[in-house]
Amino acid sequence: MAQPSFLLFCIFLSFFSILSSYQTKATTITRLVSKSLYDSMFIHKDNTACPANGFYTYESFVKATGRFPRFGSVGSMETRRREVAAFLAQISHETTGGWPTAPDGPYAWGLCFKEEISPQSNYCDSSNTKWPCFSNKTYHGRGPIQLSWNYNYGPAGRALGFDGLRNPEIVANNSVIAFQTALWFWMTEQSPKPSCHDVMIGRYRPTEADLAANRTGGFGLTTNIINGGLECGIAGDGRVNDRIGFYQRYAGLLNVGTGPNLDCENQRPFA
Ligand SMILES: *[C@@H]1O[C@H](CO)[C@@H](O)[C@H](O)[C@H]1NC(C)=O
Ligand SMILES: *[C@@H]1O[C@H](CO)[C@@H](O)[C@H](O)[C@H]1NC(C)=O
Ligand SMILES: *[C@@H]1O[C@H](CO)[C@@H](O)[C@H](O)[C@H]1NC(C)=O
Repeated sequence: MAQPSFLLFCIFLSFFSILSSYQTKATTITRLVSKSLYDSMFIHKDNTACPANGFYTYESFVKATGRFPRFGSVGSMETRRREVAAFLAQISHETTGGWPTAPDGPYAWGLCFKEEISPQSNYCDSSNTKWPCFSNKTYHGRGPIQLSWNYNYGPAGRALGFDGLRNPEIVANNSVIAFQTALWFWMTEQSPKPSCHDVMIGRYRPTEADLAANRTGGFGLTTNIINGGLECGIAGDGRVNDRIGFYQRYAGLLNVGTGPNLDCENQRPFA
């Protein structure tokens, strides 16, 4: 029989180990990306020329990652840094305010926009009956990954605890939710595509069909997952090169090599 004081001691110990494991999770991302590194990556995000100025705070980014403890915390330090660089590069391309001769270069203008300017449609796929659109709502690009379409707003909201179909606007109004939608997209496998996370941590295993389509691992495959239908299988695509430019800059700031397969020029998009 254990002594009561010994039991108390055990309870005390396990309480502290639980507490410290929470603290480890909460600080995982801050160890890789400090506030000053974040600020030097996104030099112009709070420029008054940027519609999103004041929105994408470091605190919101860190808070959002708490919901996805595996982000940037799997594998070697090199793998973790590369995943974070890749994620930040992709959201930068999606929200960039840069141009070729912009101050500090085109890759210093990530996180400038929070909402798609003059959307071409309301991004309603009415054939999707699982996530039906509301007629007075529009599912255009919002937030760091520019979440679009009812079939993404619906499941993102379901996973994160908001009503993506009735209240898509929240993705442009709440910066923690905004970052969470980007991380949700990054971490979630949507068959037949793997998740960007699995690709960047080296967990992705191409099928025969993937191999035949040159869909091998690397940053280029995350571009294929995000927008391959429009950007991949094209020689020297400017959008693909913009994504690569951000990735190379951030990998440099995070002190890690980029790994192979940066582009998706020779890849076929996913079906
Ligand atoms: C939008 O549509 C929903 C569902 O049809 C309805 O509940 C809501 O009142 C509508 N809002 C506006 C502003 O028309
Ligand atoms: C979001 O902000 C816009 C203005 O930027 C406002 O019109 C809208 O009502 C807000 N929506 C929510 C859900 O807070
Ligand atoms: C795969 O890549 C090679 C070049 O490395 C290219 O010749 C071939 O056409 C590509 N296959 C497909 C299906 O695009």
